[in-house]
Amino acid sequence: NNAEDTVQTDVLIIGAGLAGLSTALALPTSLSVTVLSKAAMDVCSSHYAQGGIAASLDKNDRVADHIADTLVAGAGLCETDNTTNILSAGQQAVQWLCEQGVPFTRIPQQESQPYNNVNPLAALQTSNLHLTKEGGHGCRRVAHADDATGRHIMEALTLKAQAASNITILPYYEALNLLKNSDSQCHGALVFDYHNQRKLNFHSRAVVLASGGLGQLFKRASAPNVCVGDGVMMAWQAGCRLANLEFIQFHPTGLALDDSSFLISEALRGEGGRLYCPQTGKRFMLDVDKRAELAPRDIVARAIAEQINRNGLGYVNLDVSHLPAEFLQGHFPQIYQTLSDFGIDITTDPIPVAPTAHYSCGGVVTSANGLTDVAGLYAAGEVAYTGLHGANRLASNSLLECVVIGRNIATDLPSYLAAIENLETTSLHANVNYLIQDIWIAPTLKDSQRITLPSSVEYESNCNDNHNVNMNVDINGITAELKALMTSHMGITRDAQQLEQALLQIKQWQQQLNGYDSNQLDIDNKNNAIILNELPYFQLARQLQLATLIIQSAYQRHESRGGHYRKDYPNLASTPRTSVIEPLLKQSNE
Ligand code: SIN
Repeated sequence: NNAEDTVQTDVLIIGAGLAGLSTALALPTSLSVTVLSKAAMDVCSSHYAQGGIAASLDKNDRVADHIADTLVAGAGLCETDNTTNILSAGQQAVQWLCEQGVPFTRIPQQESQPYNNVNPLAALQTSNLHLTKEGGHGCRRVAHADDATGRHIMEALTLKAQAASNITILPYYEALNLLKNSDSQCHGALVFDYHNQRKLNFHSRAVVLASGGLGQLFKRASAPNVCVGDGVMMAWQAGCRLANLEFIQFHPTGLALDDSSFLISEALRGEGGRLYCPQTGKRFMLDVDKRAELAPRDIVARAIAEQINRNGLGYVNLDVSHLPAEFLQGHFPQIYQTLSDFGIDITTDPIPVAPTAHYSCGGVVTSANGLTDVAGLYAAGEVAYTGLHGANRLASNSLLECVVIGRNIATDLPSYLAAIENLETTSLHANVNYLIQDIWIAPTLKDSQRITLPSSVEYESNCNDNHNVNMNVDINGITAELKALMTSHMGITRDAQQLEQALLQIKQWQQQLNGYDSNQLDIDNKNNAIILNELPYFQLARQLQLATLIIQSAYQRHESRGGHYRKDYPNLASTPRTSVIEPLLKQSNE
């Protein structure tokens, strides 16, 4: 490598969403921090978040109640210690956001709401927040900034990060592979700089993966188009376990006018929005669940999907026209304006909605301090699996997780840096591995299953030593077809036959790529022109590989639980089990 192709930084953060920026801002200012954003700074799921951030903030609420609601939504698969740790830090996390200048919506006149927290100063800033309600929450618990909470949070944090002299933010820099040294410590990433169309090695003392989710593997998705799960794949290829990939959460109400599926926040249902069948005018959720429109997301999304299957229209109606127009315009200005641009006046007209791929509840196995299985590699946000979301994420718990885990990483990471300077590598590894293993309830993980595929679709490595790229492949066409396939065969409901068909189809596409294998992209030794040429193949190969892992995870789970609904296995299994995929490195060593 040429020296000019290498950038040095203490901490490399891959992703500039809420998890990435929370970590960057909470790290000691003595550390140099570089934050990579794959596209423009506002192209991230955090920025798109509407509803808000859940925390036990009301005087009548208790952290224990928030935990209980989270466990119910998680349908037996939440990791209890991490869930307790994360939710217990909720009030401090919201307080920290207030200190960063986030303009949360407040109740006009401060009512006396003494919060029984040890820190009276903290209680002051969070005591008069206006709280909204969302599905699965037993009370009003969601702090928000109008109906564009993510945008307001990200604008405040971005300003802070840009002003921080130790933080460098680099938009349009895409991490391709994680770098590990001979001691198997993660020490940076190979990165493509789109501005200058060149590869760069970022060398760091630690790496934080905060690259977001994988919603864009599906046709209708609420996430921006950069969210294709590349962080999950980088971690897996570097030696991390992945967990619960089959639990893709579908948000019940994406706008059903186009595939961009602009989110119609659950907060609208929290304030009384009702779902109707467009043809019969029936309020169908009343027959489905006693919580009606505010049942957990998987239940509402499945009920809507069933209506859509029956009515053939592609949508159901969400109606809020019975709520005062002034209230709707004041509390939901973004939704009101966006729909006005589509010619829909939400104060009088029904809103056509359909489910949309929204959140990956699984991801890179991570402790409550963000540690992964690889020394020096941390993960936070949607890319990570802490076990908080179990089989189905409770609304607005994800922004909270980003802040809490980001800040936990910032606390843990300096001691890791001190350890690599002072300790023998072997003892360092023992320490990190111990921490990772210690958080798990052993039977859950130890029981984890190797995926057995039907013999017709036995998965084998497609590695082709020559890396011959078939340049005639229609990358865009296959990408679009993959999204359609994931939606139709790995969607809100699925069965063995659909999953087998999907695996076969993906295997055919992999063969069309001529054995091109993203694990084998030896771009270190390639020049910029070749990398640029090969990037779309690399990205597609990686997406196909991730789609395979997701489908395999769904295939081997013979039950219906939370966001995973098997038509051929409609019941809960007696023992809740987390599904774990061994790291690629371990598999290939065996
Ligand atoms: C919403 O506003 O409905 C989304 C909130 C979330 O996904 O947590």
